[in-house]
Amino acid sequence: MKQAFITLLALATAAAALPSHAARLHQRAFRNGTGDDVSAWDNIDWAHGTCGGNTGYVCQSGYCCSQYGYCGTGAEYCGGGGATCTSPRLYQGDGSTGAGWPAAEAWASFDNLWNANAGTIAISCNQFGQANNSPTETAQMKNAILSIAASSGVDARFILVTVMQESKGCVRVWTSYGAHPNPGLMQDHNGQYTCYGTNPCPESYIQGMIREGTTGTSSGDGLLQILNKLSTSGARKTYQAARVYNSGSLPGDGNLSNGGATNSYPSDIANRLLGCVF
Ligand SMILES: *[C@@H]1O[C@H](CO)[C@@H](O)[C@H](O)[C@H]1NC(C)=O
Ligand SMILES: *[C@@H]1O[C@H](CO)[C@@H](O)[C@H](O)[C@H]1NC(C)=O
Repeated sequence: MKQAFITLLALATAAAALPSHAARLHQRAFRNGTGDDVSAWDNIDWAHGTCGGNTGYVCQSGYCCSQYGYCGTGAEYCGGGGATCTSPRLYQGDGSTGAGWPAAEAWASFDNLWNANAGTIAISCNQFGQANNSPTETAQMKNAILSIAASSGVDARFILVTVMQESKGCVRVWTSYGAHPNPGLMQDHNGQYTCYGTNPCPESYIQGMIREGTTGTSSGDGLLQILNKLSTSGARKTYQAARVYNSGSLPGDGNLSNGGATNSYPSDIANRLLGCVF
């Protein structure tokens, strides 16, 4: 590999002199959560990049995946779509940027969020004492998120981070019980679909779990109905919707840290949208 290493260094140096694709100074990309790290220069695919998309690779902590699929730092990599979160912080107040909450422009792209969470999704059923997702089930979950986002108009990133918040992406997650059962990937309000104890999880059930959480059930709102009832806009509307999804209503004082089943829920969603994984 020594030969390739020297060649690539030369290429990288040459690329750095170019105005727009200076982005090609590579940082190591790796497949998170699998123990399958690749060495610094072995996985460079000059046509398709090294991270994001369907590569299955994410960037090291502190680096973002650019729109061209390369890991690095700075605006070219992290502006508009990079996973910029390195450690979660607690957001409090009304969900506005004025109160310090992240603007939608700061959210990571769907690809970056997906790749950042891939390692967690792969082992997410351990905590429920169930078999982990098969790669097929995980791919079907991703397809369900993207297709139901497209048909409903709900941002796929909001659906994905809600899945991560509710179930970590385990298709066999258990059902939680409050005033009614909340089954499935998004712990849907009195939903019909669960794969707890069912392996493999049928694709129609995976779609059902994402559809109910996003577009609601016969007895409860999904993200779509909640968003439609809010009069705010942009990122703040999303953070408010997260509050309502978790606790059923907005607190009277508008402070999203209050009145929740999980007080930090909207803040957790904001962190996840920046690319935090926890
Ligand atoms: C929001 O509520 C939290 C928890 O009650 C509190 O610590 C925080 O100071 C409040 N923030 C604002 C802006 O009211
Ligand atoms: C890799 O996975 C670990 C454990 O799930 C997580 O703590 C870490 O944030 C992940 N790193 C990236 C870059 O996704």
